[in-house]
Amino acid sequence: MRALILSSLGIMLGSVISTPALALPISFVNAAPPSTGAIALPVGKDGKLGEAAMAVDRITNGGISRAITAAAFRGNSGDTLNLYSVGPYSRVTLIGVGESANSRVGLEDFGGRVARAALEGQASTWAVVIPDAPAFADAGALVALGARLGSYEFPQVGKTTRATTDRTLRLHVANASAASSAWTGRWQPVGDGVKLARDLISTPSNIKSPQWYVDSVSAAFEGIPNVSITVIDEKEAARLGMGGLVGVGQGSTRPARLLAIHYRGGARDSAPISFVGKGITFDTGGISIKPGDGMWRMRYDMAGSAASMGAVLAAAKRGAKVNLVGVAALAENMPDGNAIRPGDVLTSMSGKTMEILNTDAEGRMVLADANWWTQETFKPSLMINIATLTGSARGALGDDYAALFHNNETAAKRVEDAGAKVGEMTWRLPIHPSTRADIKSDVADVKNVVEGGAPGASIGAAFIEEWVKPETAWVHLDIAGVAWATTRKPTIPPGAVGFGVKLFDEVIAQSEGR
Ligand code: BES
Ligand code: ZN
Ligand code: MN
Repeated sequence: MRALILSSLGIMLGSVISTPALALPISFVNAAPPSTGAIALPVGKDGKLGEAAMAVDRITNGGISRAITAAAFRGNSGDTLNLYSVGPYSRVTLIGVGESANSRVGLEDFGGRVARAALEGQASTWAVVIPDAPAFADAGALVALGARLGSYEFPQVGKTTRATTDRTLRLHVANASAASSAWTGRWQPVGDGVKLARDLISTPSNIKSPQWYVDSVSAAFEGIPNVSITVIDEKEAARLGMGGLVGVGQGSTRPARLLAIHYRGGARDSAPISFVGKGITFDTGGISIKPGDGMWRMRYDMAGSAASMGAVLAAAKRGAKVNLVGVAALAENMPDGNAIRPGDVLTSMSGKTMEILNTDAEGRMVLADANWWTQETFKPSLMINIATLTGSARGALGDDYAALFHNNETAAKRVEDAGAKVGEMTWRLPIHPSTRADIKSDVADVKNVVEGGAPGASIGAAFIEEWVKPETAWVHLDIAGVAWATTRKPTIPPGAVGFGVKLFDEVIAQSEGR
């Protein structure tokens, strides 16, 4: 019924997430690189070629290395040089990897650059030589992951005509069956998790209601073993006393939801890791309405929850040996006759009350209830919040680092190290005792903003911390600055980043003892 109505408007709801206009089939082959067609080669610092690239150079009778010298190609990371009609090849694309080839980020970036070159070039099939990366048994699969991420394109829901681009990548590796099982067993699921997150984030909010989000995520998990899904609607949430979640959602005609994905891959009695994400499907600010410029981007205000969903999807798809809970606190923050007002006092699920002085500080309100419910329901060993919480985090750290807050040094280090390893960097910010004092309210237990507003990101963190039990190891990531890209990076096209999926995947892998 719903799909029918939308298709009469020329928009196919069911197709929003499922139809790529761009296809990039990837395969792994043992054979030595071919001596025809288009080929991509990694080039190290100072134009140095690895073993496999040298073999290709010999096929061109040294034409490639002469071109490297003639063009003074340095092979720095990001440099590319396109050669046409060299020896038997129609095209040779040289991609600088500098000294970074033997690193996870370097391998993924190489893959992302190969994918872009292939999509922009004419040839339909590309041979790819993998960088020498002795420290990475999974080098080929990591290049494939980078290619997947770098070629991501959101289905352009509103375009009535679109060209499809089809490019086949053949990755030449030493052991194709090992690369292929590393891909299907580990890195392809991670790619799927990032894709889910990016698709959810990119979807326009006329489509993306809390219930649509629940349906889309449920569909993504369909048929995966050891997964159970809990959906709490606004009536149930009210019955449970979730005044924060219900309050934020009540200005919208499309009511709030709490969505939890419980994946059981570990020992029956082991406490899960929980990822509790902000899922504001659109943030107008509510009655404390935001200015119009750039407000459209606030459809990404559910990016934290999208990372939670994506990470649990990746783990469940690969059958990770851990117990996990991904939680999405879903609501649309709208101004309306029924919306909450500045000055309102709400009671949360824990019984703690909040004075709402600004309805635009809504993320912390929904996370308060989501945190409490998660701890009461699952008693997690570690609870990680992830949220596009404050413009202040973006102001402090830009798009280079997510802000990290915590109540537990071991947990903080774990998250920080995982982020550094996968190229999703975090930077610690403090919660000073004075900030905890500043959020005390005259009429309620705490207030959601402080006059003057500084330090904004820390005030948000201090508020959320009020709903963290002292026995719960807790880390909070404020991703307002990093969740939406305005420039292209090798594995991140402009738009939805999916920040957090790879970081969480690494935290999960570490806890499996990988
Ligand atoms: N979703 C915003 C935070 C945000 C701002 C994310 C810019 C990404 C880019 C959040 O709900 C919000 O509005 N925060 C306010 C808090 C303030 C009212 C205390 C902010 O940061 O201005
Ligand atoms: Zn928000
Ligand atoms: Mn807001």
